[in-house]
Amino acid sequence: MGDYTHKSQKMKSFKRTLITSALPYANGPVHIGHLAGVYVPADIYARYLRLKGEEVMFVGGSDEHGVPITIKARKEGVTPQDIVDRYHGIIKKSFEGLGISFDVYSRTTSKTHHQVAADYFKKLYEKGEFIEKTSMQYYDEEAQQFLADRYITGECPHCHAEGAYGDQCEKCGTSLQPTDLINPKSAISGSKPVMRETKHWYLPLDKHEAWLREWILENHKEWKTNVYGQCKSWLDLGLQPRAVSRDLNWGIPVPVEGAEGKVLYVWFDAPIGYISNTIDLCNEQPEKFGNWETWWKDESTRMIHFIGKDNIVFHCIVFPSMLKADGSYNLPDNVPANEFLNLEGNKISTSKNWAVWLHEFLEDMPGQQDVLRYVLTANAPETKDNDFTWKDYQTRNNSELVAIYGNFVNRALVLTHKYFEGKVPARGEMTDYDKETLAEFAKTIESIAANIDNFRFREAQREAMNLARIGNKYLADMEPWKLAKTDMERTATIMNIALQIAANLSIAFEPFLPFSSKKLRDMLHLGDIDWTMLGDFDLMATGAEIAQPELLFNKIEDDLINFQLQKLEEKKKANELAAFQPDPIKANTTFEEWEKNDIRVATVKACIKVPKADKLLQFTLDDGTGTDRTIVSGIAQSYPNPEELVGMQVLFIANFPPRKLKGVESQGMILSAVDADGKLVLVTPSKPVHAGVTVG
Ligand code: 2FM
Ligand code: ZN
Repeated sequence: MGDYTHKSQKMKSFKRTLITSALPYANGPVHIGHLAGVYVPADIYARYLRLKGEEVMFVGGSDEHGVPITIKARKEGVTPQDIVDRYHGIIKKSFEGLGISFDVYSRTTSKTHHQVAADYFKKLYEKGEFIEKTSMQYYDEEAQQFLADRYITGECPHCHAEGAYGDQCEKCGTSLQPTDLINPKSAISGSKPVMRETKHWYLPLDKHEAWLREWILENHKEWKTNVYGQCKSWLDLGLQPRAVSRDLNWGIPVPVEGAEGKVLYVWFDAPIGYISNTIDLCNEQPEKFGNWETWWKDESTRMIHFIGKDNIVFHCIVFPSMLKADGSYNLPDNVPANEFLNLEGNKISTSKNWAVWLHEFLEDMPGQQDVLRYVLTANAPETKDNDFTWKDYQTRNNSELVAIYGNFVNRALVLTHKYFEGKVPARGEMTDYDKETLAEFAKTIESIAANIDNFRFREAQREAMNLARIGNKYLADMEPWKLAKTDMERTATIMNIALQIAANLSIAFEPFLPFSSKKLRDMLHLGDIDWTMLGDFDLMATGAEIAQPELLFNKIEDDLINFQLQKLEEKKKANELAAFQPDPIKANTTFEEWEKNDIRVATVKACIKVPKADKLLQFTLDDGTGTDRTIVSGIAQSYPNPEELVGMQVLFIANFPPRKLKGVESQGMILSAVDADGKLVLVTPSKPVHAGVTVG
């Protein structure tokens, strides 16, 4: 049995903890932003509570409904089921690869979930917890279906870009209603949609406002300020009824009569997924997890939702209202939502492929799971958005994991082999310094636990690293390698203490770095561990054998980091190309007008930089007339070695009036285009032609 106290709350006891982590959409793989925001902290918490011997259930799963999945399927010409099957597989496997220790990882297309979510809706419907409303929505007469906001495109009323979506213009970022779009078009058939009446069910959040205000604003002042603050703004704005159904053919059919063609809104069914997955797990392992209702309805169970900041309103306001509307469920005790992680200074974006994907990381950097876990926790966006950079990844590995933790463990083990044949030496009388070290160690351990209890995982991990620092400093100060020449008894005491510290580290780091902790325990031949053993300086029995040391972490060289940076650079280029929009086509011209331009081919005879002008090159051209033509062109920054252009053929306008540039008379204009990097490139015929021929 555990307890936790908050300033604003009376002491509450609990017997078990249900940990949920946001169900990721199965329309793409998971990336480091998801991991830092949700899954790594949730996993640290689950591992920590298990180590403490508490009853824990850690629930995950894929969110497999919603419009984006149908859009992706349509784009690829496959079914939504194909899409979710593909990504559910990738996501599940990659979570396993990183050691995210879910007790269950199921999916919202499962039979159980469809049944549970439909029953949930039905109960609320029968209790009269919804209101029914009709509204006008866009309908595609050709495709014979209502159009979700994302399925309507048109001209943005603000920036006038084409292709803005019914919910947002991606060009200028403005949030839109479908009816704001100029010339709306159906993204399915391309036809002009018409307005049609449709009926939906709404959860009247306004009716829940009063108790929500008290529950959050009065009784949960201990929630993280970012979470509390967001809830307060929503509540202060006043809550409105929210539709919990949609006109769509992908999802869980609304289980009432007259609801053909309508499914539950994805945000209605997804959180119920936490319940369905609990049910699946309890059915699979009844002896371990018992009855599912104990996890959701028993007052001695507490529930913690790990989510990212974009999910706060759903987990703190909408889902609790659904739970309350049912009446038999517990409410969450805490929702420690994180802010966002950026990548190399830019917002992570699935659609722009600006991300480090977990499944690719596991392939590119085998054996570095704990490094990623460490860096993501060290930079966790707990109170504000934070940045991931590959340079920082390398530095934290090389100067913290390798230089502090790995180095200490390695020295402790190597010296034990060197002086004591790989057996734990006996500890003699401790000096004051030894005792001070132990006291500092014990204080730091307390701080780790207090920080985890309060969802401050960054600080907790920093304190765990401080334990390794204490060990390192102890060995550096004691210099057992020198003492061994004169005083074996004292050396034995020092090495005993060092080994006890190493054993403690394998426990302290277990929630954060499970792979290396296991490796360390194996080297120490340490069996089962639990959190209460932390601080015990008799974990390693005198005379016990330890294994040959292996490095816990390896130095990461520049080439590995450069490979990742190069990969990102390529993504950036591809994005720029994809984002390229040609200039609008100019108003029509006539053949006569066009003919007035005398465009010709010339061969470059010489090309030099114009003195005192960064951008200008002076071309000497053979234009076929027998007299050299000089043209000055502002293209110098694209061609740092102008002499290399000699012999190349270029296009130029011959009948431009001559003008002076930096004292040189330029007789015409050379034609160029702009490349993906914004640099000018010369335009040239695809085969050599006579100098002077006209282009037309
Ligand atoms: O934001 C998201 O990725 C959602 N798929 C999270 C759902 S959380 C829960 F409700 F399932
Ligand atoms: Zn716009």
